[in-house]
Amino acid sequence: MTKSPKTLSSRVIVPRSASILSTGAYLPDRVLTNAALEKMVDTTDEWILSRTGIRERRIAAEDEFTSDMGARAAEQALQLGGIDPKEVDLIIVATCTPDTAFPSTACHIQHKIGATRAAAFDVGAACSGFLYALVTANQFIASGVYETILVVGTEKLSSIVNWQDRNTCVLFGDGAGAVVLRHRPGARGMLAFDLGADGAQTEILSVPAGGCRVPITPEVLDQRLQFLQMSGKEVFKYAVTAMNRSAEDCLEKAGIKAEQLRWVIPHQANQRIVDAVAQRLGISLEHFIVNLDRYGNTSAACMPICLHEASVAGELDRGDLLLMVAFGGGLTWASTVLEW
Ligand code: ACO
Repeated sequence: MTKSPKTLSSRVIVPRSASILSTGAYLPDRVLTNAALEKMVDTTDEWILSRTGIRERRIAAEDEFTSDMGARAAEQALQLGGIDPKEVDLIIVATCTPDTAFPSTACHIQHKIGATRAAAFDVGAACSGFLYALVTANQFIASGVYETILVVGTEKLSSIVNWQDRNTCVLFGDGAGAVVLRHRPGARGMLAFDLGADGAQTEILSVPAGGCRVPITPEVLDQRLQFLQMSGKEVFKYAVTAMNRSAEDCLEKAGIKAEQLRWVIPHQANQRIVDAVAQRLGISLEHFIVNLDRYGNTSAACMPICLHEASVAGELDRGDLLLMVAFGGGLTWASTVLEW
C-alpha cells in the first residue's frame, strides 16, 4: 500500500488571519439519479448507494460552464456579505475543469461579476483545490496586501467524466461554491493549515490527454483519454491515510483537540471514506457536514457548497471551530482549522 509522505505543516496564527465573511453556492437544476444511471451503464442504485453513499448528482446544461456556475455562487456570496464587486481585491478560483486552459476561469468570473478592480488567477489541486486556494488567500490577507478576497470552487466534472465507464461516472457531479474572505477584528480566523502533495502518485487519478503531454488527436479521442481515469481502490486507501494524517497535523498545529471542534467538513468523495476518517479521528459523524448523497463528488466545489448550506441553515455560529480536510488528484491533500 502506498503511504503519503509526512509534509511540513505551517502554523499561521497571525494577527490579521482571514475569516469567512459570507458564502454562496450554485447547483445546476438537472438532477441525475442512480435510477437514471442504471439506464446508461451496467450499474445499480444498490451498488452505488452501498459503495459510495451517493443518491443523485447535479449536471450542468451544455451551455452552462464552470465560470457561469462560479459567477452565480460568487454573486450570492458578495450579496449576502453586502459587498460591492468593485471592493474585491483578488479572485482565486479552484477548479480542475476550467472553461479554457487560458484565460483562467478566475478571469471569466471577474468579468461576469464586474469585479473590475480584482486580480484573478486559478489554483489547480483537484479536489484539494478549494483549501489550497483558501490558504493562499489567507496569506494575502495576513500580510495586509489585500482586504477582500473571493475564493471560488467550481467544477463541471460532467465534461471530463467518461459516461461509458461505470467505475467513475457514478461518482461525480457539477456545482460551485464561493466565500468572501476578510480579516474580522476580534476573530481568530484561520488558525492553522496543512498542505501536501505526492507527485509520485500522478498515475492513479488523472485526465491523461488534453495538455501538451498527450495532445488531442482522433486516436486519443478514440481511446477516450480526454476523460478522468482513476484506480478507485488505491485512491480510497491513500485518501483515508492522507486525510487522517493531515487533519491530525493541522489540529496539533492549531493547538485544538478533536473534541473542541463543532464541525468537520471532509472532502465529499465517498461516505465510506468519511466514515473511516471520522472513526480514525475519534469524532462522531454528527459533527460531519455531508452532502455527497445529493451532489456526489463536486471536487473543488464541495467544501464551499457545504459551508454555504450549513451557514444558511443557521448551523454555523461565530466562534465555532471547524476542521476542513480534503484529498484529490496529484495526489494532493489539505486541511485547515478555522474559527467561524
Ligand atoms: N456499478 C456496479 N459495479 C461496479 C461499478 C458500478 N458503478 N463500478 C465498479 N463496479 C464493480 C467493479 O468492476 C468490480 O467488479 P469486479 O470485482 O468484477 O472486478 C467491483 O464493482 C468492485 O470494485 P471495487 O473497485 O473493489 O469497488 P470499491 O468498493 O473499491 O468502490 C469506488 C469503488 C467507489 C470507486 C471506491 O474505490 C472509491 O470511492 N475510491 C475513491 C474515489 C475518490 O475518493 N476519488 C477522489 C478524488 S477525485 C478528484 O480528485 C477529481
